[in-house]
Amino acid sequence: MIKILVISSKGGTGKSMLSAALRDALGDAQIVDLDPQRTLTISAQESGRPLPIDPSQASARYLIYDTPPYHDDSIKAQIKSFDQIVIPVKSGLSDLIALKGIYDDIEDAKMFDKAILVFNEVRKPINNTHKEIVNLFKHSYPLIKIANTQLSSLLGFNRVLAEPLSGKSLEQIKEFIKEFSFND
Ligand SMILES: Nc1ncnc2c1ncn2[C@@H]1O[C@H](COP(=O)(O)OP(=O)(O)OP(=O)(O)O)[C@@H](O)[C@H]1O
Ligand SMILES: [Mg+2]
Repeated sequence: MIKILVISSKGGTGKSMLSAALRDALGDAQIVDLDPQRTLTISAQESGRPLPIDPSQASARYLIYDTPPYHDDSIKAQIKSFDQIVIPVKSGLSDLIALKGIYDDIEDAKMFDKAILVFNEVRKPINNTHKEIVNLFKHSYPLIKIANTQLSSLLGFNRVLAEPLSGKSLEQIKEFIKEFSFND
């Protein structure tokens, strides 16, 4: 089984969206909902999408962990057990500053080879401000891999808690997954 951790130290970066999108794109995948807000559990109950599971009941090839938007010591304690750490960020200075805690955790755990940061909700056309922010991330956090794939602001992502991913949003996630370290 391949365990994927979706984390960020900020709210609303797209963790729950990305967890559901990765599950749809990977196919043989289940979600573990570690967020007390229970976004994925409640939305699945309402929409009929697959319910998150308890890790002891895991049966799929991929297990994706959605997490709360703050530093959680119990997640930090388990970080080494994951095969892939995925960090969605938005293109802004507050996300840049907030990343420090997670960056340090990944450094402490020597997990840079398994972590990937992805810019989410990137608006097209890409402007110079976004390019400057990406450069600031690279400068401030030199050891983390930044995905070449950037996730656009798309209706498909916005609706993934209610309906399966398809079309352009599915294509983008599949491109992103090709960059995961378990594909190396
Ligand atoms: N690429 C995208 N395109 C369109 N909408 C998006 C995209 N990414 C996220 N959203 C929307 O932004 C909102 C926040 O996303 P989401 O709930 O996944 O963030 P989160 O990091 O899980 O938040 P929290 O920290 O509260 O758990 C949701 O309404 C989601 O549908
Ligand atoms: Mg969430």
